[in-house]
Amino acid sequence: MTDSPHISTSQRLFESDAPQALAAATFLLAGFALARQHELLGEIEQVLRESPLRHMQTPGGFTMSVAMSNCGALGWVSDRKGYRYTPMDPLTNAPWPVLPSCMQQLATEAAALCGFAGFMPDACLINRYAPGTRMSLHQDKNEVDYSAPIVSVSLGVDAAFQLGGMQRSDKPLRIGLQHGDVLVWGGEDRLRFHGVLPIKPQHHPLMGPDRINLTFRKAG
Ligand code: SIN
Ligand code: FE2
Repeated sequence: MTDSPHISTSQRLFESDAPQALAAATFLLAGFALARQHELLGEIEQVLRESPLRHMQTPGGFTMSVAMSNCGALGWVSDRKGYRYTPMDPLTNAPWPVLPSCMQQLATEAAALCGFAGFMPDACLINRYAPGTRMSLHQDKNEVDYSAPIVSVSLGVDAAFQLGGMQRSDKPLRIGLQHGDVLVWGGEDRLRFHGVLPIKPQHHPLMGPDRINLTFRKAG
């Protein structure tokens, strides 16, 4: 991966309102979530008390290394039957926790800054990456309508995000994501392949060794 195109990111000490275009309809809002980090982390903690993180099964029978949960009307699940959205948490047999307002507002505002006015997510996937954990290249395509963007919030230790093309074989752009960064992709970029390279051992003052990613979607 050392030869892939690389967008380097310096330490971010303040929020930037100017989206950085990485592709035609893919934008980085560096540090956009920093101003509400404590509120966000409190809301995440509350959600995870109701619907704990768990390692889901892939349809092929493997255990996913990223631990996941959801909030919102719909939650993304994977098991032997496949990938899909469900209104109920299969672990608790209860509806997924309500999407907290600070999280929803963050996603709606970030999308609007990137040209996607009126984005109303009904699903937020919470991914927790421990050191060494990765997410291989994939497309987000379990949603009903691709006209809404994906809004992805990074918290905790740094990650190297791979922004691929429309084909799995397209060489991905490598984007450094830090605590508080928000990435938005939609429109003609909505079905780009993307993934996360293995998380390096690091320490974040609020999150320890882990990375948490929130992915907001209009799923139903
Ligand atoms: C995802 O594609 O669901 C997660 C992306 C990320 O963790 O940044
Ligand atoms: Fe994804």
